[in-house]
Amino acid sequence: MKLAVVILAAGRGERMNSALPKVLHKISGKAMLQHVIDSASKLKPSRTIVVAGRQYKEIKDTLKGSNILFAIQKEPKGTGDAVLKARTFLEGFKGTVLILNGDAPLVTAEALLKFLGLHGKSNNDISLISFVAARPAAYGRIVRDESDNILSIAEERDATDVQKKITEVNSGIYAVKSGLLGLLKEIRLNTLKNEYYLTDIIGIAKSKACKVEAYCIGFEDEMMGINTMPELLKAQQAYRKRLINNWMGKGITFFDSDSVFIYPEVMIGKGTTIYPDVFLEGKTKIGRGCTIYPNVRIIDSVVKDGAVIKDSTVIEGSVVMAGAVVGPFAHIRPGSEIGAGAKIGNFVEVKKSIIGKRTKASHLSYLGDASIGNDVNIGAGTITCNYDGKEKRRTTIEDRVFVGSDTQFIAPVRVGRDAYIGAGSTITKSVPPKALALSRAEQRNIKDWAKKRKGKASRGQAKKTV
Ligand code: UD1
Ligand code: CA
Repeated sequence: MKLAVVILAAGRGERMNSALPKVLHKISGKAMLQHVIDSASKLKPSRTIVVAGRQYKEIKDTLKGSNILFAIQKEPKGTGDAVLKARTFLEGFKGTVLILNGDAPLVTAEALLKFLGLHGKSNNDISLISFVAARPAAYGRIVRDESDNILSIAEERDATDVQKKITEVNSGIYAVKSGLLGLLKEIRLNTLKNEYYLTDIIGIAKSKACKVEAYCIGFEDEMMGINTMPELLKAQQAYRKRLINNWMGKGITFFDSDSVFIYPEVMIGKGTTIYPDVFLEGKTKIGRGCTIYPNVRIIDSVVKDGAVIKDSTVIEGSVVMAGAVVGPFAHIRPGSEIGAGAKIGNFVEVKKSIIGKRTKASHLSYLGDASIGNDVNIGAGTITCNYDGKEKRRTTIEDRVFVGSDTQFIAPVRVGRDAYIGAGSTITKSVPPKALALSRAEQRNIKDWAKKRKGKASRGQAKKTV
């Protein structure tokens, strides 16, 4: 069966009350319209036509995908008019046209496949997916005759009191034989809303004895359309639940499914445990047997097997090797690699740095533009001074170096393997292997200084002298 997909995305989205085009609002970091495109693309259509409106450029720049054509609907004159605008791109196409709403992002490829199967098997002219809605007022109602055949679709504002009681609603997903698209021209302007309703095509087709069926195979948490911010939130929650259920099926332990956000492209290995308030974003990959404690955000990063990410840590664009421990309160910035078995402790910031195997930076440090070898100890309060106001420079610390607390490295510097840096040093020159580098003023003890100070204080001079 040849398939073309038309996705409607040119509506004003006024009910969102937002400058961003409605279909670009995100669910788990991915634009609603992109969700729809991704599900549709799994059906391998020969072409996908997105009908976009005035904000067409913004939409085009955001979307990814192959084979996508844009039809422009300058004025949002209704869903019927929107499909008409896609028709130019369907010239010469013979097969099934699947129409989807860009504001119904949770639809899965599986549901669409099942629907297309039913449509094809029954040799319908037009089919649509319906579902039973908890609050049907936001949708068009499916009006059926005594034999349960669909007669028409009634939108809330045009529905009679009897029709308003119907809970079976239109999902906005239709399969139409390409030969029937000519019926679109027969849709009349709905004067109440000044729009051409695609839904009217059902009544028109019925009046021409076409075979039309509504399959009540949808579920609200998959078919819901998003018109308002509360609906966006509801969709976000439903999507999150779906993903988390999927991950639980793959052996991931969660303590709370309501506060964990996992983006669709994230991968997680078996036996990993995820605490509440965790965000796994972008293309993050978490290995097997990892533990991610509360309040952690990991963006576009790789965390390998057995690593432990402790509370309130942010990791961006970096790699944490197997068995490493990061946090609590650590910030791993882009371009970093934390070596196997390494430890990055509280209040440590790492940027564009390589941290070797088993190396420890346990407290209060800034390691930027640094290459640090294996088994290095970074004392508390160590700072790589990588920026001179103009340029960034690198610090290199070789294997097994011991860096005493409160050390500053004025980059560029290199510390040779097995060297020691005395606590409180400011390192401005490279240190040869095995050496001890010390750069601090020798301590002076002034005998009885306190006693003398006390004497002065009693004569009323204390304020000035210290
Ligand atoms: C529409 C259906 C309704 C269905 C519901 C499912 C009509 C008249 N109503 O209602 O039966 O239950 O979807 O969610 O079709 N769009 C355009 N151009 C326009 C108007 C809309 O491209 O001129 C696009 C929108 O961007 C949106 C989709 O079509 O993605 C649906 O439009 P919307 O205004 O949200 O329709 P609903 O009132 O939700
Ligand atoms: Ca809608």
